[in-house]
Amino acid sequence: MPRNTAPADIELPFSAKYDAGHSEAYHDKHRSGLRRRLSNQRDLQLARSALALAGEPQWVLDLPCGAGRFWEVLGEKPDRQIIAADNSAAMLEVARQHCPSTLAGRVRLMHTSAFSIDLPDRSVDNVFCMRLLHHIGDSEHRLAILREFHRVVRDTVILSLWVDGNYLSWRRRRQEAQRQRQGKDGYQNRLVLPRATAEAEFKAAGFGIIKHLDFLPLHSMWRVYVLRRA
Ligand SMILES: C[S@@+](CC[C@H](N)C(=O)[O-])C[C@H]1O[C@@H](n2cnc3c(N)ncnc32)[C@H](O)[C@@H]1O
Repeated sequence: MPRNTAPADIELPFSAKYDAGHSEAYHDKHRSGLRRRLSNQRDLQLARSALALAGEPQWVLDLPCGAGRFWEVLGEKPDRQIIAADNSAAMLEVARQHCPSTLAGRVRLMHTSAFSIDLPDRSVDNVFCMRLLHHIGDSEHRLAILREFHRVVRDTVILSLWVDGNYLSWRRRRQEAQRQRQGKDGYQNRLVLPRATAEAEFKAAGFGIIKHLDFLPLHSMWRVYVLRRA
């Protein structure tokens, strides 16, 4: 199997937090409380619609797979093969323990980084990337990841991130400005990206936009993009 040609791996501070305790808590988080369960259902619904827009891909790289939150939806197409990848070994172990037996033969786990994916060029039909890019503050880092997706994918990418142009991003910006005025620590491990910036970066990495889907239009920051390799 040819190794990828990406530059040396990049380690981000936020990536280090997914140890065994945090990974198990992440698995439980989306299943606890009515608000989180409803929000999770909406995420699954958006994923289902995005997969349909992407033409129901057969070989999907779920990166980062986290605790396997989307496997139920990914598994709805009976002949789909899922490569479930994450750079936290602890997260992969939690995902393995909770993997439904009906999917066991179709999910292959892989310990790898989004900056340097351990797969050959054009080896999957789709890269499915939920809840990673809103952690990546540096444009060069986002572009490195998008270019790595471009290298391994044959057809489409589905990704989620936080965008501007809605009520919650406006409120967040106000809160951040207030914190700065009060001299409080400005470090954030999640960020809102201007839509124009995100879309320019997709183009620069070689993707065209098929469609976007908003979690709750004009209110929520979460947006899912369906991209096609140009
Ligand atoms: C917020 S979770 C999202 C997991 C899953 N996609 C979901 O929505 O439930 C972020 C995940 O990104 C993984 N991660 C962090 N840095 C990464 C990197 N450089 N490459 C691949 N995965 C990474 C973490 O281990 C964690 O599982």
